[in-house]
Amino acid sequence: MTLELIEEPAAWRAMLDACRTKGQRVGLVPTMGALHAGHLSLIRRAAADCDVVTLTDYVNPLQFGPTEDLAAYPRDLDRDCRLAGEAGAEVVFAPTTAELWPESPRTSVRVEGLTEVMEGSSRPGHFDGVATVVAKLFALAGPCWAYFGEKDFQQLAVIRRMVADLSLPIEVIGCPTVRDPDGLALSSRNAYLTSDERGAAARIYYALLAGKRAIEDDGVDDPQLVSQAMADALAAGAHFELDYAEVAHPDDLTRPKRVQGEVRLLIAARLGRARLIDNIAATAPGPTEGGIP
Ligand code: PAJ
Repeated sequence: MTLELIEEPAAWRAMLDACRTKGQRVGLVPTMGALHAGHLSLIRRAAADCDVVTLTDYVNPLQFGPTEDLAAYPRDLDRDCRLAGEAGAEVVFAPTTAELWPESPRTSVRVEGLTEVMEGSSRPGHFDGVATVVAKLFALAGPCWAYFGEKDFQQLAVIRRMVADLSLPIEVIGCPTVRDPDGLALSSRNAYLTSDERGAAARIYYALLAGKRAIEDDGVDDPQLVSQAMADALAAGAHFELDYAEVAHPDDLTRPKRVQGEVRLLIAARLGRARLIDNIAATAPGPTEGGIP
Protein backbone atom coordinates (compact mmCIF):
# COMPACT_ATOMS: atom_id res chain seq x y z
CA MET A 1 0.00 0.00 0.00
CA THR A 2 1.41 3.44 -0.84
CA LEU A 3 1.17 6.27 1.65
CA GLU A 4 -2.09 8.16 1.55
CA LEU A 5 -2.32 11.76 2.80
CA ILE A 6 -5.77 12.68 4.10
CA GLU A 7 -6.84 16.14 5.29
CA GLU A 8 -10.57 15.64 5.63
CA PRO A 9 -11.78 14.18 8.96
CA ALA A 10 -14.73 12.35 7.38
CA ALA A 11 -12.48 10.77 4.74
CA TRP A 12 -10.04 9.60 7.40
CA ARG A 13 -12.82 8.05 9.48
CA ALA A 14 -14.28 6.32 6.39
CA MET A 15 -10.88 4.93 5.43
CA LEU A 16 -10.23 3.48 8.91
CA ASP A 17 -13.79 2.10 9.12
CA ALA A 18 -13.17 0.33 5.80
CA CYS A 19 -9.95 -1.18 7.17
CA ARG A 20 -11.78 -2.55 10.23
CA THR A 21 -14.56 -3.94 8.04
CA LYS A 22 -11.87 -5.93 6.23
CA GLY A 23 -10.81 -7.27 9.63
CA GLN A 24 -7.65 -5.17 9.83
CA ARG A 25 -6.20 -4.01 13.13
CA VAL A 26 -5.65 -0.24 13.03
CA GLY A 27 -2.61 1.35 14.69
CA LEU A 28 -2.68 5.08 15.48
CA VAL A 29 0.36 7.28 16.14
CA PRO A 30 -0.64 10.85 17.09
CA THR A 31 2.12 13.44 16.48
CA MET A 32 2.63 17.12 15.85
CA GLY A 33 4.97 16.32 12.95
CA ALA A 34 8.65 17.34 12.69
CA LEU A 35 9.28 13.62 12.85
CA HIS A 36 12.45 12.22 14.38
CA ALA A 37 13.64 8.74 15.30
CA GLY A 38 11.48 8.79 18.47
CA HIS A 39 8.30 9.19 16.42
CA LEU A 40 9.54 6.63 13.91
CA SER A 41 10.04 4.07 16.69
CA LEU A 42 6.32 4.41 17.52
CA ILE A 43 5.38 3.90 13.85
CA ARG A 44 7.63 0.83 13.60
CA ARG A 45 6.14 -0.65 16.77
CA ALA A 46 2.62 0.04 15.47
CA ALA A 47 3.51 -1.53 12.11
CA ALA A 48 4.81 -4.64 13.90
CA ASP A 49 1.54 -4.99 15.89
CA CYS A 50 -1.10 -3.80 13.41
CA ASP A 51 -2.29 -4.36 9.81
CA VAL A 52 -2.59 -0.69 8.95
CA VAL A 53 -0.87 2.28 10.61
CA THR A 54 -2.03 5.86 10.52
CA LEU A 55 -0.02 8.80 11.74
CA THR A 56 -1.66 12.06 12.68
CA ASP A 57 0.39 15.15 11.90
CA TYR A 58 -1.26 18.19 13.46
CA VAL A 59 0.23 21.02 15.50
CA ASN A 60 -2.56 21.43 18.03
CA PRO A 61 -3.06 25.08 19.02
CA LEU A 62 -5.15 24.08 22.07
CA GLN A 63 -2.10 22.73 23.90
CA PHE A 64 0.13 25.81 23.46
CA GLY A 65 0.06 28.65 25.98
CA PRO A 66 -0.12 32.26 24.74
CA THR A 67 3.65 32.77 25.17
CA GLU A 68 4.69 29.37 23.80
CA ASP A 69 6.22 28.36 20.47
CA LEU A 70 3.10 27.60 18.36
CA ALA A 71 4.17 29.84 15.48
CA ALA A 72 7.81 28.68 15.59
CA TYR A 73 7.01 24.96 15.94
CA PRO A 74 8.89 23.19 13.09
CA ARG A 75 6.67 21.97 10.22
CA ASP A 76 7.59 19.92 7.14
CA LEU A 77 4.72 17.71 5.95
CA ASP A 78 6.47 16.37 2.81
CA ARG A 79 9.42 15.14 4.85
CA ASP A 80 7.09 13.72 7.53
CA CYS A 81 5.12 11.75 4.90
CA ARG A 82 8.30 10.31 3.38
CA LEU A 83 9.71 9.26 6.78
CA ALA A 84 6.36 7.91 8.03
CA GLY A 85 5.96 5.81 4.86
CA GLU A 86 9.49 4.44 5.17
CA ALA A 87 8.82 3.48 8.81
CA GLY A 88 5.67 1.54 7.86
CA ALA A 89 2.70 3.96 7.99
CA GLU A 90 0.05 3.70 5.27
CA VAL A 91 -2.00 6.80 6.10
CA VAL A 92 -1.11 10.31 7.30
CA PHE A 93 -3.96 12.42 8.64
CA ALA A 94 -2.94 16.09 8.48
CA PRO A 95 -6.02 18.29 8.81
CA THR A 96 -5.96 22.07 8.90
CA THR A 97 -7.41 23.63 12.04
CA ALA A 98 -10.39 24.84 10.01
CA GLU A 99 -11.06 21.25 8.89
CA LEU A 100 -10.63 19.72 12.33
CA TRP A 101 -12.54 22.41 14.22
CA PRO A 102 -14.97 24.15 11.83
CA GLU A 103 -16.12 26.01 14.92
CA SER A 104 -13.79 26.60 17.82
CA PRO A 105 -14.60 23.95 20.42
CA ARG A 106 -16.64 24.70 23.51
CA THR A 107 -15.90 21.28 24.91
CA SER A 108 -12.74 20.56 26.85
CA VAL A 109 -11.52 17.32 28.37
CA ARG A 110 -9.83 17.69 31.74
CA VAL A 111 -8.24 14.81 33.60
CA GLU A 112 -8.21 15.98 37.19
CA GLY A 113 -5.48 15.12 39.65
CA LEU A 114 -2.89 14.17 37.04
CA THR A 115 -2.69 17.50 35.24
CA GLU A 116 -2.10 20.06 37.97
CA VAL A 117 1.46 18.95 38.80
CA MET A 118 4.77 19.18 36.91
CA GLU A 119 4.05 20.04 33.24
CA GLY A 120 0.53 21.07 34.23
CA SER A 121 1.69 23.62 36.78
CA SER A 122 4.33 25.05 34.43
CA ARG A 123 2.01 25.05 31.43
CA PRO A 124 -1.54 25.82 32.62
CA GLY A 125 -4.17 24.40 30.26
CA HIS A 126 -1.63 22.34 28.32
CA PHE A 127 -3.06 18.93 29.23
CA ASP A 128 -6.64 20.07 28.66
CA GLY A 129 -5.54 20.91 25.12
CA VAL A 130 -3.78 17.57 24.71
CA ALA A 131 -6.66 15.51 26.16
CA THR A 132 -9.24 17.39 24.06
CA VAL A 133 -7.44 16.91 20.75
CA VAL A 134 -6.52 13.29 21.51
CA ALA A 135 -10.14 12.53 22.46
CA LYS A 136 -11.20 14.06 19.13
CA LEU A 137 -8.59 12.04 17.19
CA PHE A 138 -9.72 8.87 19.01
CA ALA A 139 -13.36 9.65 18.17
CA LEU A 140 -12.53 10.09 14.48
CA ALA A 141 -10.18 7.10 14.27
CA GLY A 142 -12.53 4.66 16.03
CA PRO A 143 -11.41 1.48 17.79
CA CYS A 144 -7.66 1.12 17.46
CA TRP A 145 -4.31 0.55 19.11
CA ALA A 146 -2.74 3.93 19.92
CA TYR A 147 1.00 4.40 20.48
CA PHE A 148 2.51 7.08 22.72
CA GLY A 149 6.07 7.71 23.92
CA GLU A 150 7.21 7.43 27.53
CA LYS A 151 9.27 10.54 26.69
CA ASP A 152 6.10 12.47 27.62
CA PHE A 153 5.36 10.33 30.66
CA GLN A 154 2.77 12.61 32.22
CA GLN A 155 0.94 12.88 28.89
CA LEU A 156 0.88 9.06 28.64
CA ALA A 157 -0.58 8.82 32.17
CA VAL A 158 -3.22 11.46 31.33
CA ILE A 159 -4.27 9.66 28.15
CA ARG A 160 -4.43 6.26 29.85
CA ARG A 161 -6.67 7.71 32.54
CA MET A 162 -8.91 9.51 30.02
CA VAL A 163 -9.37 6.27 28.05
CA ALA A 164 -10.21 4.36 31.24
CA ASP A 165 -12.58 7.03 32.63
CA LEU A 166 -14.49 7.46 29.36
CA SER A 167 -14.37 3.76 28.32
CA LEU A 168 -12.93 4.75 24.97
CA PRO A 169 -12.42 1.77 22.62
CA ILE A 170 -8.68 2.36 22.45
CA GLU A 171 -5.76 0.21 23.54
CA VAL A 172 -3.00 2.60 24.70
CA ILE A 173 0.56 1.35 24.26
CA GLY A 174 3.49 3.19 25.88
CA CYS A 175 6.83 2.95 24.07
CA PRO A 176 10.38 3.55 25.37
CA THR A 177 12.20 6.85 24.90
CA VAL A 178 14.63 7.03 21.98
CA ARG A 179 17.86 8.90 22.83
CA ASP A 180 20.87 10.27 21.02
CA PRO A 181 24.11 8.40 21.79
CA ASP A 182 24.99 10.90 24.56
CA GLY A 183 21.64 10.22 26.27
CA LEU A 184 19.65 13.30 25.22
CA ALA A 185 16.03 12.27 24.55
CA LEU A 186 15.05 13.09 20.98
CA SER A 187 12.61 15.99 20.76
CA SER A 188 11.46 18.36 18.04
CA ARG A 189 12.40 21.16 20.43
CA ASN A 190 16.09 20.11 20.46
CA ALA A 191 16.25 22.06 17.18
CA TYR A 192 16.09 25.25 19.29
CA LEU A 193 19.46 24.46 20.96
CA THR A 194 22.67 26.22 19.86
CA SER A 195 25.62 23.88 19.35
CA ASP A 196 27.04 24.82 22.79
CA GLU A 197 23.68 24.15 24.42
CA ARG A 198 23.35 20.88 22.52
CA GLY A 199 26.73 19.85 23.95
CA ALA A 200 25.42 20.43 27.48
CA ALA A 201 21.85 19.19 27.04
CA ALA A 202 22.44 15.51 27.90
CA ARG A 203 23.10 16.62 31.48
CA ILE A 204 19.36 16.31 32.02
CA TYR A 205 19.72 12.58 31.43
CA TYR A 206 22.77 12.38 33.73
CA ALA A 207 20.79 14.17 36.42
CA LEU A 208 18.04 11.53 36.10
CA LEU A 209 20.71 8.84 36.37
CA ALA A 210 22.04 10.54 39.52
CA GLY A 211 18.55 10.24 41.03
CA LYS A 212 18.34 6.60 39.97
CA ARG A 213 21.74 5.85 41.54
CA ALA A 214 20.69 7.56 44.78
CA ILE A 215 17.67 5.22 44.97
CA GLU A 216 19.11 2.00 43.60
CA ASP A 217 22.75 2.10 44.80
CA ASP A 218 22.67 4.33 47.87
CA GLY A 219 19.25 3.28 49.17
CA VAL A 220 17.99 6.88 49.50
CA ASP A 221 14.25 6.62 50.17
CA ASP A 222 13.41 10.24 50.96
CA PRO A 223 11.98 11.72 47.72
CA GLN A 224 13.17 15.19 48.75
CA LEU A 225 16.77 13.96 48.88
CA VAL A 226 16.42 12.22 45.52
CA SER A 227 15.05 15.44 43.99
CA GLN A 228 17.98 17.31 45.52
CA ALA A 229 20.48 14.81 44.05
CA MET A 230 18.97 15.39 40.60
CA ALA A 231 18.92 19.19 41.03
CA ASP A 232 22.57 19.19 42.18
CA ALA A 233 23.65 17.06 39.21
CA LEU A 234 21.87 19.44 36.83
CA ALA A 235 23.28 22.55 38.53
CA ALA A 236 26.80 21.22 37.93
CA GLY A 237 26.24 22.11 34.26
CA ALA A 238 26.01 25.76 33.32
CA HIS A 239 22.98 27.46 31.80
CA PHE A 240 20.16 25.24 33.04
CA GLU A 241 17.15 26.78 34.69
CA LEU A 242 15.47 23.96 36.61
CA ASP A 243 11.71 23.84 36.50
CA TYR A 244 11.19 20.65 38.50
CA ALA A 245 13.04 17.47 39.47
CA GLU A 246 10.39 15.10 40.80
CA VAL A 247 9.92 11.60 42.14
CA ALA A 248 6.46 10.27 41.30
CA HIS A 249 4.33 7.19 41.52
CA PRO A 250 4.20 5.85 37.93
CA ASP A 251 0.39 5.57 37.72
CA ASP A 252 -1.06 8.57 39.52
CA LEU A 253 2.07 10.77 39.51
CA THR A 254 1.76 11.58 43.20
CA ARG A 255 4.93 12.09 45.21
CA PRO A 256 5.42 9.09 47.52
CA LYS A 257 6.22 9.68 51.19
CA ARG A 258 9.00 7.08 50.89
CA VAL A 259 10.50 5.67 47.72
CA GLN A 260 9.28 2.07 47.48
CA GLY A 261 9.09 -0.28 44.51
CA GLU A 262 9.09 1.37 41.08
CA VAL A 263 8.95 5.15 40.80
CA ARG A 264 9.37 7.60 37.95
CA LEU A 265 11.98 10.36 38.03
CA LEU A 266 11.01 13.40 35.97
CA ILE A 267 12.89 16.60 35.14
CA ALA A 268 12.00 19.74 33.21
CA ALA A 269 14.55 22.50 32.64
CA ARG A 270 15.04 25.41 30.35
CA LEU A 271 18.22 25.61 28.31
CA GLY A 272 18.45 28.73 26.17
CA ARG A 273 15.28 28.92 24.06
CA ALA A 274 14.38 25.29 24.62
CA ARG A 275 12.36 23.79 27.44
CA LEU A 276 13.46 20.17 27.79
CA ILE A 277 11.71 17.35 29.63
CA ASP A 278 12.84 13.81 30.31
CA ASN A 279 12.15 10.92 32.70
CA ILE A 280 13.30 7.44 33.62
CA ALA A 281 12.19 4.60 35.88
CA ALA A 282 13.96 3.69 39.13
CA THR A 283 13.29 0.78 41.45
CA ALA A 284 14.01 0.90 45.16
CA PRO A 285 15.83 -2.14 46.45
CA GLY A 286 13.40 -4.46 48.27
CA PRO A 287 13.80 -5.38 51.92
CA THR A 288 17.10 -7.24 52.39
CA GLU A 289 16.50 -10.99 52.58
CA GLY A 290 17.68 -12.67 55.72
CA GLY A 291 17.92 -9.33 57.55
CA ILE A 292 16.93 -8.80 61.13
CA PRO A 293 13.15 -9.30 61.28
P1 PAJ B 1 4.74 15.08 19.68
O1 PAJ B 1 5.55 15.89 20.62
O2 PAJ B 1 4.94 15.24 18.21
O3 PAJ B 1 4.99 13.56 20.06
C1 PAJ B 1 4.28 12.55 19.40
C2 PAJ B 1 4.56 11.24 20.11
O4 PAJ B 1 5.95 10.92 19.99
C3 PAJ B 1 4.25 11.29 21.61
O5 PAJ B 1 3.61 10.10 22.01
C4 PAJ B 1 5.63 11.44 22.22
O6 PAJ B 1 5.71 10.95 23.55
C5 PAJ B 1 6.44 10.59 21.26
N1 PAJ B 1 7.88 10.92 21.35
C6 PAJ B 1 8.45 12.14 21.28
N2 PAJ B 1 9.79 12.05 21.47
C7 PAJ B 1 10.06 10.74 21.66
C8 PAJ B 1 11.26 10.00 21.91
N3 PAJ B 1 12.45 10.59 22.01
N4 PAJ B 1 11.17 8.64 22.06
C9 PAJ B 1 9.95 8.02 21.97
N5 PAJ B 1 8.78 8.67 21.72
C10 PAJ B 1 8.84 10.00 21.58
O7 PAJ B 1 3.04 14.49 22.06
C11 PAJ B 1 2.55 15.15 21.15
O8 PAJ B 1 3.18 15.32 19.95
C12 PAJ B 1 1.20 15.83 21.25
O9 PAJ B 1 0.97 16.22 22.57
C13 PAJ B 1 0.02 14.92 20.76
C14 PAJ B 1 -0.12 13.65 21.63
C15 PAJ B 1 0.22 14.53 19.30
C16 PAJ B 1 -1.31 15.70 20.87
O10 PAJ B 1 -1.26 16.86 20.12
